[in-house]
Amino acid sequence: MTEWWKKSTVYQIYPRSFMDSNGDGIGDIPGIIQKLDYLHDLGVDILWLSPVYDSPNDDNGYDIRDYYKIMNEFGTMADFDELLERVHERGMKLVMDLVVNHTSDEHTWFKDHPDFYIWRDQPTNWRSFFSGSTWDFQKERNQYYLHLFSKKQPDLNWENPQLREAVYEMMRWWLDKGVDGFRMDVINMISKVPNIQDAPDGDGSSQFMNGPNVHTYLKEMNKRVLSKYNIVTVGETPGTSPKEARDYIASQNQELNMIFTFEHMDLDQASGGKWDLKPLELIDLKENLEKWQHGLHEEGWNSLYWNNHDQPRIVSRFGDDQNWRVESAKMLATCLHFMQGTPYIYQGEELGMTNVRFDLIEAYKDIETINMYQEKQKAGISHDDIMKKIYAKGRDNARTPMQWSNELNAGFTTGVPWIQVNPNYTNINALEHQDPDSIYQYYKKLIAFRKKMDIVTHGDFTLMHREDEELFVYTRRWNDETLTVYCNFSNQTKSVERPKGAKLIGNYADHNDELALKPYEAVVYYQH
Ligand code: NOJ
Repeated sequence: MTEWWKKSTVYQIYPRSFMDSNGDGIGDIPGIIQKLDYLHDLGVDILWLSPVYDSPNDDNGYDIRDYYKIMNEFGTMADFDELLERVHERGMKLVMDLVVNHTSDEHTWFKDHPDFYIWRDQPTNWRSFFSGSTWDFQKERNQYYLHLFSKKQPDLNWENPQLREAVYEMMRWWLDKGVDGFRMDVINMISKVPNIQDAPDGDGSSQFMNGPNVHTYLKEMNKRVLSKYNIVTVGETPGTSPKEARDYIASQNQELNMIFTFEHMDLDQASGGKWDLKPLELIDLKENLEKWQHGLHEEGWNSLYWNNHDQPRIVSRFGDDQNWRVESAKMLATCLHFMQGTPYIYQGEELGMTNVRFDLIEAYKDIETINMYQEKQKAGISHDDIMKKIYAKGRDNARTPMQWSNELNAGFTTGVPWIQVNPNYTNINALEHQDPDSIYQYYKKLIAFRKKMDIVTHGDFTLMHREDEELFVYTRRWNDETLTVYCNFSNQTKSVERPKGAKLIGNYADHNDELALKPYEAVVYYQH
């Protein structure tokens, strides 16, 4: 049996930046409802909403204050119910973000159930993902609480069975409402080692990533909740290899359906981590994606992504957003969408939206970026040097408002947007999405191929031209069919062998089976 989500494409909505219906400058649920026809026309099957729950927005909703309430700025529970109904009416599904590694410090649990959190008399030297220590002192208790992210995001204590039951109850509540699954925020961090200790360079990850009880908890969650519904689950799991991934997603393990790997997103960073920039070597990317394609073939299921709300825009990152924006956006889409797995499209990717460069740090809203800036400035690094990092990797690259039109604020809001619109909205926007040559229409075709061609779902994967530093070529085979996918990651013309079969799709209209690939050309051949 092929599960329904294996032929599906997911579209991620970051509600704050998607569409504002009431002019307060913040995207909202009625705004999403207005755009459902646009999404349905694209052909996506599943919408994943970044958190819409009540939150003080220290980390834009990833700090939840009340799991049973919709954030005021986004609307009401009635709006949510209407959204769910309208999504289902169109034959699409809706997946919620589940953030249960931590809550907001404003969640009533933090006061009423301190035993739901992790306390120690002495802090360790761990560094938070958002700079500074992972520990904060609480006077009343005379103890430190753990927060891997901001100090307003205390980590939950999954060892406490009452906490686990409270989480499962909440999950059932949303599933009984009819939501179709969960994307689980940093779910591989819920189990910490019992004796938390100082770590080299303050990197405590070996003590909280893929920890000792994580599989026990997920099996329990599956048994008590997930297995009772026909849903899809995807776990966000930084620092996870294909082998560890199989433990989470092999069907006999009864935990999750898919995980998000981070390995391919870490290839353009040096040993100092995310902000330590280094150019991508295409060979590294090919080897890595090959490893995942082979590692999960028939033993799991890949999620395929270039973008999300935490990553810079792919056309600016691995493509060329200046000279070859349309070509490279389509090429990157081709490269990803013919692989085995479930593809995830992040809002605006289907328009070829790009990174943004604001001059002043004050224009940035993301807590990770702001904290990093302050820390590096204290360490004596110049404004310009820090901004280079932010331009390349900052999360706000992905969070500028969706570019609907060339009107005021890109048609996102009639008010003052919570974060500035990328000034290139006058050229890059959804107005021309019905143009047959648009990036949107190209994505639409890719999504349709996945639905109708079983080879895209089931075929094996073979990397070709392994040593080529500019070409990414692979084949997929299934019964007597073969797909050959050619992607030129350079702005140079590249010669290749004459492909077998007939052209299925490509990003240049005039490709005529020549032995050359034009700059950023992608072309797919099908033979049977
Ligand atoms: C991962 C989310 O994708 C990110 O946006 C968030 O800041 C952290 N987890 C903490 O919830």
